[in-house]
Amino acid sequence: MLWSLVLSLFLFFFNSNAFYLPGVAPTTYGEGDDIPLLVNHITPSNSHNIVNSNGGSSAGTSQSKKAKTYVYSFDYYFPKLHFCRPKDGKLEKQSESLGSIIFGDRIFNSPFEIKMLQNQSCTALCSSVYSKTDTLFVNKIIRSGYYHNWLVDGLPIARSLYDTGTKTKFYGTGFEVGLIDPTNVAHLVNHFDIQIEYHKRGENQYRVVGVTVQPYSWDRKLSDDQDKDKDSNKNLCDANANNFDPVFLNQNKNTEVQFSYSVYFVESDISWATRWDKYLHVYDPKIQWFSLINFSLIVLCLSLVIGHILLKTLKNDISKYNSIDLSEDIQEESGWKLVHGDVFRPPINRMLLSVMVGSGFQLFLMAFVTILFALFGLLSPANRGSLATVMFILYGIFGIFGSFASSFIYKFFNGENWRLNLILTPTLVPGTIFLIFIGLNFFLIWVKSSGAIPIGTMFAIIGIWFLISLPLSVIGSLLSFKSNNEFLKKPVKTNQIPRQIPKEPIYLKIWVVSLISGIFPFGSMAVEIYFIYSSIWFNRIYYMFGFLFFCFVLMTVTCSLISILMIYYTLCFENYKWQWRSFLISGSCSIYVFIHSLFLIKFDQLNGAVSIILYLGYSSMISLLMFVLCGSIGFISNLIFIRKIYSSIKVD
Ligand SMILES: *[C@@H]1O[C@H](CO)[C@@H](O)[C@H](O)[C@H]1NC(C)=O
Repeated sequence: MLWSLVLSLFLFFFNSNAFYLPGVAPTTYGEGDDIPLLVNHITPSNSHNIVNSNGGSSAGTSQSKKAKTYVYSFDYYFPKLHFCRPKDGKLEKQSESLGSIIFGDRIFNSPFEIKMLQNQSCTALCSSVYSKTDTLFVNKIIRSGYYHNWLVDGLPIARSLYDTGTKTKFYGTGFEVGLIDPTNVAHLVNHFDIQIEYHKRGENQYRVVGVTVQPYSWDRKLSDDQDKDKDSNKNLCDANANNFDPVFLNQNKNTEVQFSYSVYFVESDISWATRWDKYLHVYDPKIQWFSLINFSLIVLCLSLVIGHILLKTLKNDISKYNSIDLSEDIQEESGWKLVHGDVFRPPINRMLLSVMVGSGFQLFLMAFVTILFALFGLLSPANRGSLATVMFILYGIFGIFGSFASSFIYKFFNGENWRLNLILTPTLVPGTIFLIFIGLNFFLIWVKSSGAIPIGTMFAIIGIWFLISLPLSVIGSLLSFKSNNEFLKKPVKTNQIPRQIPKEPIYLKIWVVSLISGIFPFGSMAVEIYFIYSSIWFNRIYYMFGFLFFCFVLMTVTCSLISILMIYYTLCFENYKWQWRSFLISGSCSIYVFIHSLFLIKFDQLNGAVSIILYLGYSSMISLLMFVLCGSIGFISNLIFIRKIYSSIKVD
């Protein structure tokens, strides 16, 4: 029933139109029509830029060593920034999807007045006075490499950049709030040359297909020239524009800064449907493919070897076990067959284990279906926040499968307290994540970041959980308790008295085996994690869903193979406690995910304790989710594996 719902949703997306997703139908403008420019939050970036001699900037890759990095964003109209407000002073917050709000978008209207096909050379915006304390803040923002994120017709305003590696031009979204010159002085950007590329569709029908900006820092010497009429466009950018000094905010006095912009329209033959292509630039596609193919070959070899060993030894084992006739009774039994009377003995904390496996299964389904949707282009970056929104909704819906799995496993372990299981599954893992989330949100509120989730959105999240996730979970649990699946019947009987577990070799100690095994699933997704992190922290557009899908499949395969192999050896050493072990073996890759995240950012460059707390907080949240997800893959694979092998041997 649910699958048909998902399927029809799927078909709806496909049928409605191959290209135009809901909410991103093209807008056609006539000559002179208003094209609104919207401003989003300012975000930290990991690139710092060096100003060149005439005040323009070139996107350099050289890092300014003294620069500190923040990891949280600010509203465009954050009072200390003093950016120009709309003429009538009314800020209109644009409505956004849930996912887009959670991932930090805060979009407002702006004072820019842009009309289709009307060039404007140098229009005054406003002038702002920066007090001493605000100067300090703004200079810090500039030094940390904050970026503007503006939107025109749904397109992010970009810098036109050149990739020397692949020798192609591409658009890098956003642009610097300020520039740092070679002598390490911060300059505020106060003039914007906006270039709008349009595509002519027909008589007086134009579409926006590209928006780029060239930022400048021009000191118009306002304070020295008292008689100047600030609102006139005269002298703002005269022919000698290049002779302006850059704006320098002095920390010892108030500085007045004049903001201005120019708009140029340029015809382009790029069509509307392909206008995003330039934004989705892969820096060096060869390196990525290379590392990915490299790793997938390793995984492939690994899985072939594991598969071969397992199949061969298992076949031998099974035929040996089954061929032993009564005359060979004296022969000592050895290997995994020995523990047949204990292998289905319920583990300690079976409640916790089944709840975590259920939650992990739910996450797995969510991730898989989301990536699948994205792979088919259903969640293009053009549709802001759609990815995150779909993720949330899918997570809610898949509560039914998560709870089903949780109760099913609990029942398999002969658990009796099914009410507690019903309650814990939809609350334990999501609740923990939500609590961390709320805790981090307090820090965001404290530093006045725009990333703090508004109270309304918080209630929306809780509402979705209450109205979608919770009822579906309860249904899932009940269905599972009602079910009388064949799978629940154990192939071998469990003995009354538990077997003694012999001392195991050091390499099969749980911590050793977990730490070693965790490397493999981690390796299959390390490249991808890097890109996901830079899209989370530095507002990069994430779009390599082909890669992601591939990595996800690799990760799943590695998780299940490595844990099956290790559990096989564990059983051969007559240790029957496979349940938690299988979970930990594949879940342990999350330790590496966490350690890896510590290396993705330079801690000495993080600005202040709050940045560090936020970074560590979100990283541990991601690692926790990875732990539950990968762990449940390991457990479920082993459950199936063990049931299979023990049902193929004869036990007298
Ligand atoms: C607007 O400016 C661009 C770039 O300078 C120029 O190519 C174009 O012809 C101008 N358009 C009009 C209508 O003046």
